[in-house]
Amino acid sequence: MRNLLIILLISMTFFACKEQQKKVETVVSNDLVDSLYYNEPYRSQYHFTPEEKWMNDPNGMVYHNGIYHLFYQYYPEDIVWGPMHWGHATSKDLIHWQHKPIALYPDELGLIFSGGAVLDKQNTSGFGSLENPPLVAIYTYHLMEGEKAGRKDFQTQGIAYSLDNGDSWVKYEGNPVIGNTDIKDFRDPKVMWHEPSKNWVLTLVAGDHAQFYSSKDLKSWSLTGKFGKEIGAHGGVWECPDLFKLKVGDTEEEKWVLLISINPGAPNGGSGTQYFIGDFDGKTFTTNQKDIKWIDWGTDNYAGVTYDNEPNDERIFIGWMSNWTYARDTPTEKWRSAMTLPRTLSLSKIDGAYTLLNYPIDNLQNIISEGETKDISIASNGNEILNFKDLNQSEIRFKTKAKNFQLSLSNSLKEEVILTVSDDENMVTLNRVNSGKTEFQEDFGSIQKMPINELPEDAYEVRILVDQSSIEIFINEGQHVMTAQLFPNEPYNSLILENLSEDELLFNDFGLNKVSRIW
Ligand code: FRU
Repeated sequence: MRNLLIILLISMTFFACKEQQKKVETVVSNDLVDSLYYNEPYRSQYHFTPEEKWMNDPNGMVYHNGIYHLFYQYYPEDIVWGPMHWGHATSKDLIHWQHKPIALYPDELGLIFSGGAVLDKQNTSGFGSLENPPLVAIYTYHLMEGEKAGRKDFQTQGIAYSLDNGDSWVKYEGNPVIGNTDIKDFRDPKVMWHEPSKNWVLTLVAGDHAQFYSSKDLKSWSLTGKFGKEIGAHGGVWECPDLFKLKVGDTEEEKWVLLISINPGAPNGGSGTQYFIGDFDGKTFTTNQKDIKWIDWGTDNYAGVTYDNEPNDERIFIGWMSNWTYARDTPTEKWRSAMTLPRTLSLSKIDGAYTLLNYPIDNLQNIISEGETKDISIASNGNEILNFKDLNQSEIRFKTKAKNFQLSLSNSLKEEVILTVSDDENMVTLNRVNSGKTEFQEDFGSIQKMPINELPEDAYEVRILVDQSSIEIFINEGQHVMTAQLFPNEPYNSLILENLSEDELLFNDFGLNKVSRIW
């Protein structure tokens, strides 16, 4: 697309007089192209979006030889969901992205639904060699003809490999590697290497539960366990599982985490991602967890999974920043939807309960200008209004002990998004009822709620990242998180801080920082 723009603009300069042409070309190819590229209304400036057309789930997240791969559910013909391909982008820092050609196209076995990818270091599959180990993608085939015919076996699992670090892919001739007999929703395989048993372990979802399979070579799989029929949230089908191990805080204790997306049935409607903390013995997952836990309470973080082979041994998560309730209706024209910021996952024991935290990766700091910080105090029930040129590409960050306050971002059209922290109600709410364009779908303009029982007595951090069409809120470094899309008709430029308590309100180290664009 960028190249097309350059060609178009350069050919326009053809009409400029000869001596001027060179000069114009230089100006055109730099400033003008840069200012047009990725600058459409609502185009995220520092989140991943495809250049054009429809995108949903992140897929095949794997690191190899200095490159982070991001594949994604992609329909290259339209801005609504259609026959699925795997789109592809790469990054060296998980912040700046390079678009790549489509990696996987539908074939006679079906459309290419979600799945993962691994680096097969030991060449267990035999697709590569020890010197040049293959990347192996494991995905779901969705056979439309089967679905239309009313059969139940239309989702199966296939694999493909790449010997050139993701540039080209060969589908395995023995596909499907896991067939199906009668499970209608049977999809989204995610694979990991399980060192104790020296096996590959594949987790997939089968309607209302997860299933675990093991394999020595990524081709031949056997079912080893099932989890979840009677546990967790079941307001909709289970989708996009991910299974991995994490250390608990700074201790030596390790626990297994199972992510499960469900749609519908999320706490604020539509799509959401729950998690379970427990144990995995190489065959199945078990947990004592009684309550339902959500990774993100906002409406727009779905189908998120983590990187395989992450070089710093971190668990890095990316989610699809949308919700099936209105994903097809959002007011963008050239492309649809963005990914969340990449987030580091960590486990902590808070008030005796294992809690999964998610917080932006450290690299994000490289595109945030650290401006001055100041301490702000607001008298009992008072407020402070701060005006800016544009808040739509910014980070708001401060520390506070306060638990009753409100923060709203608004513009001259009186559109506003309001974040309220209320200790009295043990609740954080995010109100986007009057945040801008909301009428494209009746459920979009909602008030989203997040319980906050365990906020610390000491000062905790509030960090808010606003892009052209999204807000991500991290409270106490990823303990309480909300992600939501927003479509203001004009950038927000005013920030109102309101003290909702009888005490003086103190915000320490308050900073309003600019986030640079990544394109
Ligand atoms: C989740 C999901 C997956 C499926 C894919 C299809 O958003 O429904 O379960 O594989 O999207 O695009």
